[in-house]
Amino acid sequence: MNIYIETQRLILRDWVESDFPIFTKINSDPKVMEFFPKVLNEEESLAFVFRIQQEFQESGFGLYAVERKEDHCFIGYTGLHHFSFNTDFAPGIEIGWRLAYAYWGNGYAPEAAKACLQYARTKLGIRDIYSFTATHNLRSERVMQKIGMQYIKDFGHPSLPPNHPLYLHKLYHIGMNDYHSKSV
Ligand SMILES: CC(C)(COP(=O)(O)OP(=O)(O)OC[C@H]1O[C@@H](n2cnc3c(N)ncnc32)[C@H](O)[C@@H]1OP(=O)(O)O)[C@@H](O)C(=O)NCCC(=O)NCCS
Repeated sequence: MNIYIETQRLILRDWVESDFPIFTKINSDPKVMEFFPKVLNEEESLAFVFRIQQEFQESGFGLYAVERKEDHCFIGYTGLHHFSFNTDFAPGIEIGWRLAYAYWGNGYAPEAAKACLQYARTKLGIRDIYSFTATHNLRSERVMQKIGMQYIKDFGHPSLPPNHPLYLHKLYHIGMNDYHSKSV
């Protein structure tokens, strides 16, 4: 198992089998999935992990499993993902996060994400990173702001119909040349 990134409180690592049932629980929680089209069942969750692991094999990076150092609990993911849907800023690399509800509000997502940005710049040589979320997902937008990303614009997500409540998204960006790590 590779450990890619360590922060003061967290380890960002490869996924292991014991994460899978916990991840299934996270993805079935309506609070966690409030700003996604639907909760995921076990099969959909496992298919998601499989796609994450494929991206690691193809790119050498992906959505890292996040483990808390103090008790070695798997708490969700934070990491990088290639996106290629039909917009004027694609294809590109996004940074994203999803944590179990019990761990919200401790600044874990910004801590993990800041470390990912630094890793992307110094180890992966990535120049631009985007992040986007449904406009109502203020929690996720806060993480973008906390890690120093800049708001670019609102856009309609091409995978959703224009009348869908989650259609409008906010787009944020950070240029890695401008990024200087600060402690979190
Ligand atoms: C978005 C998310 C990763 C934030 O993680 P986190 O580690 O809790 O981040 P923070 O502790 O910095 O909190 C960020 C904001 O979430 C809100 N928040 C924190 N704890 C909360 C809680 N228990 N209940 C409701 N909102 C909460 C606050 O607005 C907070 O901003 P503030 O610190 O300025 O008050 C987490 O809420 C999550 O997993 N959400 C579901 C998945 C998701 O929407 N992912 C993004 C898809 S684009």
